Amino acid sequence: MPELTITLDRSVDVMRAIGEPTRARIVNVLSEGECSVSDLCDILGQSQPRISRHLRLLVEAEVCARHREGNYVFFSLHRSEPTSHGAGSLVHLLVSALDRDDPVLAADLARLTTVRERRAELAHQHFAEVAERWDRERTLHTPDELVEPAIVHLLSPNGHGIGDVLDIGTGTGRMIELLAPMANRIVGLDSNPSMLRVARANLDRARIHHAELRQSDIFATSMPGSAFDVAVVHQVLHFLDDPARAIHAAADLVVDGGRVLVVDLPRHSNEALRVEHAHRRLGFTSEQMNGWFADAGLLQIDHQMVEPKGRQTGLIAVGLWIARKGAT
Ligand SMILES: C[S@@+](CC[C@H](N)C(=O)[O-])C[C@H]1O[C@@H](n2cnc3c(N)ncnc32)[C@H](O)[C@@H]1O
Repeated sequence: MPELTITLDRSVDVMRAIGEPTRARIVNVLSEGECSVSDLCDILGQSQPRISRHLRLLVEAEVCARHREGNYVFFSLHRSEPTSHGAGSLVHLLVSALDRDDPVLAADLARLTTVRERRAELAHQHFAEVAERWDRERTLHTPDELVEPAIVHLLSPNGHGIGDVLDIGTGTGRMIELLAPMANRIVGLDSNPSMLRVARANLDRARIHHAELRQSDIFATSMPGSAFDVAVVHQVLHFLDDPARAIHAAADLVVDGGRVLVVDLPRHSNEALRVEHAHRRLGFTSEQMNGWFADAGLLQIDHQMVEPKGRQTGLIAVGLWIARKGAT
């Protein structure tokens, strides 16, 4: 049984929207993850005007959501129940009843694999240009192998689910890969479409199909109907002119009682990072972070410094600051 019941009129609207062969095929493909219009044209072997017309009907029935990413428009199944008015559970039920061995559906999914391989190749070409700089940057601070378990433990000391998660400045989607198994819903937001292309390929490779990627500037984001339990800002603040404003924006996007986790460098003196890695800020002090939290209606509930180990001397530590909205 669906977890959320929906009205008779609404269920008829949803079934009518899906009740046509091309639209049922589109919904089946989107159940595997987001696709652009041109992806769907390639997969279903139909013209753009036809696919666009079907997508418009699915969006009108709130079965699908559309969002722009640079010159592309991506479509996904609506996962957020408040905005889909209950369609999500019914759509899931209908898709799960489809026979995956049906020759038409199986061929669609085979072509989806080809489309994903092409995406991965494009992303690989882009990342090849920036990877070296990224890899070098990562070698300057405590290795991710030590930081990532600390993040997981801080967010979920008992291993319980952490609800709906927003990863701000998701970059190549590493935090999504790490946190998706613990999240109910997970959305990655980044202003750079090239980074999102890499993230999309990485998530395909990691078989994470329920993540949503959105191109948006944190300072100009509007996510109606979205309020997250956790917002993560991982290694982003030091690139920004106005980190305080970013923390405000993160706080606005979480529910009352929700948490904001900032992972970044503590204050350091490596001026070269400004020139070689475009850092605007040389890390942050806990006083700064606490002040920004307080101004944004957040209260710090924990803080941890993940120091480099043993012979990893000369590396910068990584700070984890976590705060709760509305906590007194
Ligand atoms: C160093 S990367 C970190 C990516 C990821 N959080 C990680 O740790 O792997 C910083 C990311 O923040 C994004 N970014 C910078 N300013 C932004 C803004 N104003 N709004 C949204 N994303 C932004 C960049 O495009 C970049 O992908």
